[in-house]
Amino acid sequence: MDHLLDLGNWNEEEIKDLVEKAIDIKKNPEKYQNSLKNKTLLMIFEKPSLRTRVSFEVGMTQLGGHAIYYNLMTSPMGKKESVSDTAKTASRYVDIIIARLYSHDIIIDFAKNSEVPVINALTDFSHPCQILSDLQTIYEKKGKLKGLKLAYLGDSNNNVTHSLLYGCSICGIDIVVGCPEGEKYEPKKDVIEKAKKLAEASGSKIIITHDAEKAVSEADIIYTDSWMSYHIPEEEKEQRKSIFMPYQVNTELMNQAKKDSIFMNCLPAIRGMEQTEDVIDGPQSIVFDQAENRLHMQKAIMLKLMGVDI
Ligand code: CP
Ligand code: NVA
Repeated sequence: MDHLLDLGNWNEEEIKDLVEKAIDIKKNPEKYQNSLKNKTLLMIFEKPSLRTRVSFEVGMTQLGGHAIYYNLMTSPMGKKESVSDTAKTASRYVDIIIARLYSHDIIIDFAKNSEVPVINALTDFSHPCQILSDLQTIYEKKGKLKGLKLAYLGDSNNNVTHSLLYGCSICGIDIVVGCPEGEKYEPKKDVIEKAKKLAEASGSKIIITHDAEKAVSEADIIYTDSWMSYHIPEEEKEQRKSIFMPYQVNTELMNQAKKDSIFMNCLPAIRGMEQTEDVIDGPQSIVFDQAENRLHMQKAIMLKLMGVDI
C-alpha cells in the first residue's frame, strides 16, 4: 500500500513524474475528468485549512469523484475509539484518505491500519503535498530543479522546512536554512542528517546558518513560512516575533539574492511578520501560483496513489 506521509523515502524519479503529471493535468484538465469516477475521498481535519481542504475537494470533484470533509472534533477517534479502529473502519467505506493532524505518530498509526492510501495533509512534522506542488511551481518558473539554490528563512523547526529539506535534497536543489540558534527554531537533527545523505546522492548541499544575509546570497528562491504555525499558542506571538524578526524577508534582504529570484510562502501569511507587504505583494512574489498549483498537484498525488495511469 502506497501512502504519502513524508518525502524522506521518495526518490527523484517519482517526484519528477509527479511534477510532470501535475503540469499535464493543469494544461489538459479535461483529459482527467472522469479518472476517479465513483471514488470517494475522506478528508480528516484536526486543524484549520483553506488551500489544502479546498484544493483536495475541488480536485476530487474535477476528477469525477466525491469528497467528504470530516472534522475530527465530531469524531470518536482518539476519544471513544482508537486510531486503528477508526482507520480500519473508514477505509472500508472510502477509496483514499487525507488527514491533517497535530501528531505525525498518529498519522503513521492511522496509515498502518488503513486499507486504502493515506495522504498527509500536514502534521507538525511534515507537509509533503505542499512541497510537491512547490517543486512544480519552481520547475515552471525556472525550467529546472537541479542546480538551483533555495534559501529558507524563519521558523525552521517546522513541517514546511522538514519537507523542503527532503524535497530539495532529493531533487538536487541546494538549500540554505537561515534561522535563530536553538533546538526550538532549527530543523530536527535527524531530518538534517537524512537530508544530508540525500543531498550527497543528488549532488546538492545543505547549510544551516544563523546569518540571514549569508543565507540569501546568490539564492534563486527565497522561501518563508508562518512564525505562528497552527499549533503555536497565540500567547507566544510577541516573543516569537522578536526572535524571528532578523529573518523577516524584506526588500533589503531580497536585494541580496539573485536579481531574478522568486519569493515563495506556502500561505497563510501575515504581512509585517515573516515577510513585508512590499515583498509578498511585489513583482518577485509567486505565492498565488504556488497556491493554485496545490490543486493540480493534489490530483496528481491522488491518481498516483490510486494507481490510475492516464
Ligand atoms: N499551505 C497550506 O497548507 O494552506 P492551508 O493551511 O490553508 O491548507
Ligand atoms: N508551518 C505552517 C504551515 C501552514 C500551511 C503550519 O503548520 O501552520
